[in-house]
Amino acid sequence: MLKFAVFDSREYDRPGFDKFSEGKDIELKHYETKLNADTVILAKGYDGVIVFVNDTVDSFVIDKLCQYGVKLIALRCAGFNNVDLNAAKGRIPVVRVPAYSPRTVAEHTMAMLLTSIRRIHKAYIRTRNFNFSVNDFTGFEFYGKTVGVIGTGKIGRAFIDICNGFGMNVVAYDIYPDESVKAEYVTLDELFARSDIISLHCPLTKENRHIINSESIAKMKKGVVIANTSRGLLIDTQALINGIKEKKVGAACLDVYEEESDIFFEDFSGHIVQDDTLTRLIAMPNVIVTSHQAFLTKEALENIAETTINNIESFFKGNICNEVTA
Ligand code: NAI
Repeated sequence: MLKFAVFDSREYDRPGFDKFSEGKDIELKHYETKLNADTVILAKGYDGVIVFVNDTVDSFVIDKLCQYGVKLIALRCAGFNNVDLNAAKGRIPVVRVPAYSPRTVAEHTMAMLLTSIRRIHKAYIRTRNFNFSVNDFTGFEFYGKTVGVIGTGKIGRAFIDICNGFGMNVVAYDIYPDESVKAEYVTLDELFARSDIISLHCPLTKENRHIINSESIAKMKKGVVIANTSRGLLIDTQALINGIKEKKVGAACLDVYEEESDIFFEDFSGHIVQDDTLTRLIAMPNVIVTSHQAFLTKEALENIAETTINNIESFFKGNICNEVTA
């Protein structure tokens, strides 16, 4: 029987993993705590670990995992920026779930944008207080507007399909443009200059950290709406806040935040949140923050669990699949 420790495991993760591990030679132990230098000791005695976006799989943790004889790091997500692949190279394989339902993330992105631009979040609160005034709720039509999509992989394309369905003009930037994508590829600067809405769908890499910064914001249209359902570090949050204060940025829809790892997925109601940048963002009327939940649909959770269990089985049968390497 293979034994795997599932870190940062939440109640909603369990039904999918129970379903797809049933009848297999895999025993799962769920830990709510994240994997990091303090908790890696919990991995002792396991054949592998199943980790998520905010687990810290740095060189220290990898050294410990190797020392404990852990044989596999199975990411139950697409992004792998939280794993030191150089430290893992040749010592412990890393597998991931490359695609689990790109539409899930794309639909959340559009949901955030519609909510923000049509002020649904505010209307919800007003009507619950029997306040039926619609003052200050003027939005704009998506039809005919230009949306700039950065990263035209699986999620970017699903989002482009939705935008095309809305009758938007889609411009796109990707370091590897693909002719089959239904968008006009432009340079990054042109995308910044032309877009009414900018949506980030590229992975976080060394090269694109803070791709949205004060210089790029300066190149954008006044009133631009920025959506980030990709990774927090793609945006220099302070530059975004300045852009909003200067009224250059009209609104921001953020499912990810650069300092999210100790905050998102936890309940801080009743506490004083110490992160002044995040609290400033949340206090702004034209910012919507969701807590890294763009992936959270029944379909995606099942795909994640199924692929993760398949990745584990394949690895122990000697056919590694969905490996990520440095
Ligand atoms: P993908 O690998 O299919 O596509 C990524 C695309 O970005 C590729 O076409 C690649 O060429 C492009 N790219 C890479 N570096 C770039 C750069 N510097 N500038 C422009 N384009 C660049 O990945 P997929 O599945 O579409 O996911 C995208 C990202 O979405 C993931 O890396 C992850 O960070 C994020 N994500 C967020 C979730 C959430 O719950 N908020 C859930 C799943 C993914």
